[in-house]
Amino acid sequence: MKKKIFSGVQPTGNLHLGNYLGAIKNFVSLSNDNENECIFCVVDLHAITVTQDPAILRENIRETVATFIASGIDPKKSIIFNQSQVVAHAEAAWILSCTAKMGWLNRMTQFKEKAGKDKEKASVGLYSYPILMAADILLYDSTHVPVGNDQKQHLELCRDIAQKFNNDFKVDDFFKIPEPLIQKEFSRIMSLKDGSKKMSKSDLSDLSRINLTDEKDEILNKIKKAKTDSLSIPTNIKEFVDRPEARNLIGIYSSLASMTFEDTIQKFSGKNFSELKENLSQILIDNLNPISNEIKKLLKEKSYLDKILEDGCQKADNIASKKIKKIHDIVGF
Ligand code: TYM
Repeated sequence: MKKKIFSGVQPTGNLHLGNYLGAIKNFVSLSNDNENECIFCVVDLHAITVTQDPAILRENIRETVATFIASGIDPKKSIIFNQSQVVAHAEAAWILSCTAKMGWLNRMTQFKEKAGKDKEKASVGLYSYPILMAADILLYDSTHVPVGNDQKQHLELCRDIAQKFNNDFKVDDFFKIPEPLIQKEFSRIMSLKDGSKKMSKSDLSDLSRINLTDEKDEILNKIKKAKTDSLSIPTNIKEFVDRPEARNLIGIYSSLASMTFEDTIQKFSGKNFSELKENLSQILIDNLNPISNEIKKLLKEKSYLDKILEDGCQKADNIASKKIKKIHDIVGF
């Protein structure tokens, strides 16, 4: 049985190292394996759960496609499309919102973080967004979903929704129960300014993240200014307790070098941070520069990017429209 891989990325600009190491790098290796059928979705319906400028959103959708391709996803082998153009997503999200329970959604920590103190002012879409995510995954009978650690709870919710729908309508195995694919060793890239906070596109400080389009000088500057502590690099994993910034920098290095965390500790143990930072800047530049150059080149080829989306949408719609018809039938429409 081929694995059916599905994942999504929001086109909200500033795609960063967290998106790359937590998700996109994994998309690339999964899509290079001929045993897998891969679908990568630019989730523009998710993006409008917070205010967007329409002209910028349109550009960001293209930039996300460019990032997928520049990172190594071949649009001839994988389906790349944007969510809003396949109507079944919004429709399935509505139907599944009648299966999901308020209590389940109330537990979602990401909504609490994103809505902040003033929940009353958050959009209803921001609250129900994990249901749309479940619709995305379930429409394609996805078996595996590669994501960063921050999406783990949303995937558990997706599994609960699928299970409940199958039970409620006595349609065993209609929705496949998807498995999360989350990097084992280092699945959460933290802010360069605060090791207790996730690296995020919404952080007001650009120094907190490495953007995939950053130039060499920006990478050097950001790593130079990255927060550390006054001790030297730990000699074993236990010594990383209470040293989140050291853990993050070592983790980023190990991910980029495809080395285990343990081996990376051995490489730098006892050394000072300036040596780690020098090596880290270099490996970041080596890995990200080719991607960044390719993104910039592809962004000039708008009609090429639009054509990829158009083709991808047709293929995705072909699959999703069949599934939504069956859903109609099951619920009694
Ligand atoms: P989004 O757009 O916030 O992030 C895209 C992917 O990047 C990962 N990621 C990180 N991984 C490690 N460290 C970080 N600091 C970091 N920041 C982001 C995310 O885990 C994600 O894998 N709701 C999703 C998009 C989505 C989706 C889906 C994913 C919509 N439908 C269906 C999978 C399947 C989101 O907002 O991701």
